[in-house]
Amino acid sequence: MHSVLKTFVHSAMTSSNRVRWVFDCGNWFPSKNDWSKISRSIQPEEKERIGRFVFKRDAKSSIIGQLMIMKYLSQVTHIPWSKIKIKRDQNNKPVIDGFDLNFNVSHDENLVVFAGEQNNTVGIDIMRNRYKGGKSVNEFFRIMHRNFNSKEWQVINKGCTEEQKINAFYRFWCLKESYVKATGTGLTVNLKNICFVPKSDLIKNYFVTNTQLFVDGQLLSDWVFHEYLYDNNYTVTVCLNKPVDPINFKFLTFEELTNSAEMITDVDELYCNSFMAKSDCP
Ligand code: COA
Ligand code: MG
Repeated sequence: MHSVLKTFVHSAMTSSNRVRWVFDCGNWFPSKNDWSKISRSIQPEEKERIGRFVFKRDAKSSIIGQLMIMKYLSQVTHIPWSKIKIKRDQNNKPVIDGFDLNFNVSHDENLVVFAGEQNNTVGIDIMRNRYKGGKSVNEFFRIMHRNFNSKEWQVINKGCTEEQKINAFYRFWCLKESYVKATGTGLTVNLKNICFVPKSDLIKNYFVTNTQLFVDGQLLSDWVFHEYLYDNNYTVTVCLNKPVDPINFKFLTFEELTNSAEMITDVDELYCNSFMAKSDCP
């Protein structure tokens, strides 16, 4: 199999149980009516969690992730939207009982991404390729040092410019996050023992699929990674436990995301007023 693939080559192979979706929250300014509709279309405990966000930006990303999960599960299982029951496992990963379906959400800055798979384990992570901390990049790298293997730092530091180093850093970040999100452990494991060995550079709007994973020095060849550099701005990595072809990401509109949604809970005027009064971001 080719390790670097242009996305459109594989778009025809997409089957409906395998999906990749993306939603751009940057151009989405929900009205009070929109917020009412969607906050009533998610499970009550998720609605309550999302209500606790201080900023609109975080609430928006998180609710879009919930809607993607609900849309995927209702579409694939044919269970009515209102009867779907998403659970959280012991490490907080959203899962569904009784189906051989695995799915995962990630959000960063404006984009929310989703991967759904049948008979496979999946984790996804997205990062904007832009350092946004207050500290210098060197100081940031010093703090993050313990999460990366020395071989990974060698690759990161090979970059000639700060931009190249940051891009390489976020590439490893997304690889690690996608893996711990697939396994569901999150950050409970020692990330330094998870070492990625890239075999090809990332190329804008292409998939790279030949990066290798070593855990405690052992090559884990069952795991595959579909790495995608979206417009040079975002790195998106999908981690899978069985080799499958990459699928092109489809941008969803708000209408597409919500057209099959059903109301689960009652009108909640206070909840919507509270959202509308929030600032967008810090
Ligand atoms: N496993 C898989 N998915 C999980 C999960 C878990 N244990 N816990 C939550 N999720 C899902 C949820 O859908 C969540 O969305 P929600 O918060 O809106 O419900 C979504 O993943 C969040 O993913 P993402 O946007 O990529 O968040 P994150 O990268 O900040 O956090 C964690 C992902 C929670 C699983 C965990 O890895 C973490 O805390 N990461 C912090 C970032 C960090 O320091 N990474 C070091 C990289 S070197
Ligand atoms: Mg993440």
